[in-house]
Amino acid sequence: MASIRNQWGIFRYLSEVFTEPSPIKGQPEGSISTMISTAVLASLLAVVQALPASDMSVEVSPRYAYSQFTFPPNAAPTYAKGLPKPSTVTNYGPHYTEVSHLLGDLKTTTWGNWNPNATATATDKDDPYGQYAWSQLWENVALKNFTSTGIYSTTVDPTPVPSESLVLPPPDVFSFDDNLKFPSDFVFGVAGSAAQIEGAIAMEGRSPTIMEVLVRDSRPKDYVTNENYYLYKQDLLRLAQMGVKTYSFSIPWTRILPFVTPGTPVNKQGIDHYDDLINYCLELGIQPMVTLTHFDSPVQFLGGKVPLATDYPLNFYAGYANDTFVEAFVNYGKIVMSHFADRVGLFVTFNEPYLYAGYPLGVKNVVTAHAALYDFYHNELKGCGKVGIKFNDNFGVPKNATDPQDVAAANRFQDFQLGSFANPLFLGQDYPEAWKSTFSNETEIFFSAEELKNVSKKVDFLGIDPYTYTVVTPPEEGIAACQANTSHSLWPLCVNETQTREDGWKMGYRSESYVYTTPVEFRQYLNYLWNTFKAPVFVTEYGFPEWKETEKELGDQLFDQARSIYYRSYLDAMLKAIHEDKVEVMGSLAWSFQDNWEFGSADQLFGMQVVNTTTQERFFKKSFFDYVKFYQDRI
Ligand SMILES: *[C@@H]1O[C@H](CO)[C@@H](O)[C@H](O)[C@H]1NC(C)=O
Ligand SMILES: *[C@@H]1O[C@H](CO)[C@@H](O)[C@H](O)[C@H]1NC(C)=O
Ligand SMILES: *[C@@H]1O[C@H](CO)[C@@H](O)[C@H](O)[C@H]1NC(C)=O
Ligand SMILES: *[C@@H]1O[C@H](CO)[C@@H](O)[C@H](O)[C@H]1NC(C)=O
Ligand SMILES: *[C@@H]1O[C@H](CO)[C@@H](O)[C@H](O)[C@H]1NC(C)=O
Ligand SMILES: *[C@@H]1O[C@H](CO)[C@@H](O)[C@H](O)[C@H]1NC(C)=O
Ligand SMILES: *[C@@H]1O[C@H](CO)[C@@H](O)[C@H](O)[C@H]1NC(C)=O
Ligand SMILES: *[C@@H]1O[C@H](CO)[C@@H](O)[C@H](O)[C@H]1NC(C)=O
Ligand SMILES: *[C@@H]1O[C@H](CO)[C@@H](O)[C@H](O)[C@H]1NC(C)=O
Repeated sequence: MASIRNQWGIFRYLSEVFTEPSPIKGQPEGSISTMISTAVLASLLAVVQALPASDMSVEVSPRYAYSQFTFPPNAAPTYAKGLPKPSTVTNYGPHYTEVSHLLGDLKTTTWGNWNPNATATATDKDDPYGQYAWSQLWENVALKNFTSTGIYSTTVDPTPVPSESLVLPPPDVFSFDDNLKFPSDFVFGVAGSAAQIEGAIAMEGRSPTIMEVLVRDSRPKDYVTNENYYLYKQDLLRLAQMGVKTYSFSIPWTRILPFVTPGTPVNKQGIDHYDDLINYCLELGIQPMVTLTHFDSPVQFLGGKVPLATDYPLNFYAGYANDTFVEAFVNYGKIVMSHFADRVGLFVTFNEPYLYAGYPLGVKNVVTAHAALYDFYHNELKGCGKVGIKFNDNFGVPKNATDPQDVAAANRFQDFQLGSFANPLFLGQDYPEAWKSTFSNETEIFFSAEELKNVSKKVDFLGIDPYTYTVVTPPEEGIAACQANTSHSLWPLCVNETQTREDGWKMGYRSESYVYTTPVEFRQYLNYLWNTFKAPVFVTEYGFPEWKETEKELGDQLFDQARSIYYRSYLDAMLKAIHEDKVEVMGSLAWSFQDNWEFGSADQLFGMQVVNTTTQERFFKKSFFDYVKFYQDRI
């Protein structure tokens, strides 16, 4: 019976096809429609249309049968595809010896490792940059529970990862249905930051940063972290064997210039360290990318004050509003660029500056310092790589997209976190109106017409760290009332955030912290950024902390399925934004390539590798394999 019913189904299908004037556009001669005679069709139609509708339903009935069961054989393991050898090396600018004259008369020296007893025994008390003065910098910050080193105190030779640690995880039952490719110049890689992985904080001449004092008493401190300062070769070799093309790292200002300001001596050990790290990247075929400051400002700019989030309206204060900041940062940046611009083609000046601006003046100083370095890089150094800046902003989406109040709140959210920097830098336009009216009494934060012209379009890409999104509404009192009331709990942003959508659902699948998996809104965001600021969009960080990951046994930690889905769904969104929406997405950097010190919070591990901080062993998680394979399958 079933087979007869199915035939009726086919007749019904044909009848529908042939009663449409042109079912398939551009149908060629000799196709099914022209081969079946109209007369036959007409008689079939008569029969089919006479049947009651209930008898014409298509019903598929399975045919069950016995067969011999055998266990399927194990599939042969497949392995991560490492980077091809030999690698090609591009020159992005002149060698240091050709441009050192641009820096004036640089003095270079070394301070070695901090010995807490050195202050008492140092004999160079008259030297403002001597051993005594350098040790004093550490004495002044009075660290609690300071541990100088963990297991290592010198660079470790790398050991290749054995093939059994490079076996691809079992395939998933689902797959992405795109048939799209990444552009050939797409920057594909991973990111980390010095303070979160290096350790060796007082070794080889480094001086204190705000990272050592930031969470001084409130959260557990880890001065050793992943000992990447000594294990960088091992870490890089692991990336190369995984097939990671670009490694984005940050250089602490205080490793290059322990005394921070122009005219103070350069730390030779700091320069040599990053020189070696960069050369080792190139030897492995990895493209190095440098961020000049990643939350790790020198403590000097704070004038002895410990920063607290509650002290200032714009989160923490990293000294950006200090009068001496711009000149000092530009001087530091010139030194780094001059040394490495021959081999490094991608520079980021500031990481997420809104979060550490402190005051509105900090925002102006960041824009001004960035633009000056951009000019130096392209005009004086004649570098032919790219200089960008990367912003935080978990896309603010209006709770009700047709409610003008919610839309105004969402726009204000972006205006503060992005527009305040990006209007001047990307568009050559003044700050957004919301920003200007909120800080109208702070006259020194405003740009003159000439200053605006000077910073306009001084940037090669818009770096963005779009971990997730956030649902926004105005405060209950309304935006205007909040803006006028500096005691309001939401001042100065004056936007209320929630993680629940208008339809009652949460924003997406939740991680252990603020991140939700939200690829649909991520794609919208890429469209927003490209169409608003009209520059290549570079996804410079994104990542996902798995729920209660550290409470699991190692094997289960490594099977990090939610993180894997997060990465692949975002990569898929990037491809669709590129090909279907015509958005220039320049690259993808996963945060982070290993679990790290997340500012003292143990429940926000973003890594694609587990790190055992007792043994300093690293283990690849499933997400890492899946992240790289998704890309490699589409090039
Ligand atoms: C510092 O001095 C103390 C007391 O003299 C001594 O026990 C300690 O080993 C010294 N530390 C270093 C790093 O030399
Ligand atoms: C310092 O160590 C003590 C004892 O182990 C601990 O209770 C305290 O939380 C630590 N302080 C910081 C800032 O890590
Ligand atoms: C500003 O920074 C300088 C170091 O360049 C420091 O000496 C001074 O104390 C800082 N000013 C304030 C107000 O913190
Ligand atoms: C323009 O920028 C340059 C550095 O790039 C700086 O020397 C100059 O003072 C700036 N002019 C104004 C008006 O800000
Ligand atoms: C969204 O806003 C529009 C315009 O104010 C309003 O008509 C609509 O009812 C709102 N939707 C919901 C679910 O509140
Ligand atoms: C502007 O007003 C804010 C809020 O009252 C205040 O904190 C800030 O100090 C004022 N700035 C100036 C330059 O007066
Ligand atoms: C923010 O929104 C929440 C509901 O999501 C509400 O309870 C709270 O009162 C609002 N806060 C302000 C200042 O509007
Ligand atoms: C300003 O905000 C504070 C804190 O929410 C509130 O107590 C006060 O009434 C507000 N002032 C005005 C004028 O609305
Ligand atoms: C780190 O490794 C040691 C030695 O294998 C092991 O005893 C310890 O449990 C590991 N720590 C974690 C957090 O897995």
